Amino acid sequence: MKKVKLGINVDHIATLRQARKEKNPDPIEAARVALTSGADMIVMHLRHDRRHIQEEDVRRIREEVKAPIHLEMAVTKEMEKIALKIRPDSVCLVPEFPNEVTTQGGLNLNGKTGELKRIISSISGAGIEVSLFVNPEPQDIRAAHNFGADTIEICTSVYAESWGKKIQAQELEKIQLASFLVKELGMNLHAGHGLDYYNVVPIANIDGMDCLNIGFSIISRAVFVGLKNAVAEMKRLTS
Ligand code: PXP
Repeated sequence: MKKVKLGINVDHIATLRQARKEKNPDPIEAARVALTSGADMIVMHLRHDRRHIQEEDVRRIREEVKAPIHLEMAVTKEMEKIALKIRPDSVCLVPEFPNEVTTQGGLNLNGKTGELKRIISSISGAGIEVSLFVNPEPQDIRAAHNFGADTIEICTSVYAESWGKKIQAQELEKIQLASFLVKELGMNLHAGHGLDYYNVVPIANIDGMDCLNIGFSIISRAVFVGLKNAVAEMKRLTS
């Protein structure tokens, strides 16, 4: 029996709400439905441009929903301040660029990393678990470990894009090897980005996988089958 937790990302419930800037659909209601349908954790990415999740959503979900809250955020002083104020259970630091459609791969850990190290220690010092979103590359995983991260979230987007192509097996193997290294270094192992009902099983089957963070495919499926069924189906595939 696998023991993989499922983090449901509710960003795109907020994307739909922001299309009209009204109250519905409410990400808090989505969080409640997700939790009663098999989610173990609620995930949100508060972006600098506030295109979907708003600070108020994070605050309300923190206060009104009894579940672990995982905040994805850029490495900025603004986000650090918000995290220290709202105090999610865990934070995942991600790269963020203006006008990108979605997160473009893992953090660059080989450039100027002074601010990253400072924010990791500030958030970690406040008792919030710190995860770094990294590509399945051994040098990035070792760097993240040296920076003091508790958790590595391996970026699965290249694997997801390789689905049905010749390089699929190779991309899966990269993630398997990276996962082995994460566990060898004694860190928590998460994976996510681009995971869907087709490509998720080989990732959920990786030894030591602690948690998968999934959003877009589940919210898309929810349009046709309802959020309850969409989450429950994903839970069945991953546990
Ligand atoms: N993990 C991270 C770090 C992300 O930035 C995202 C997207 O917000 C996800 C997981 C979820 O990706 P998807 O919406 O493609 O499932």
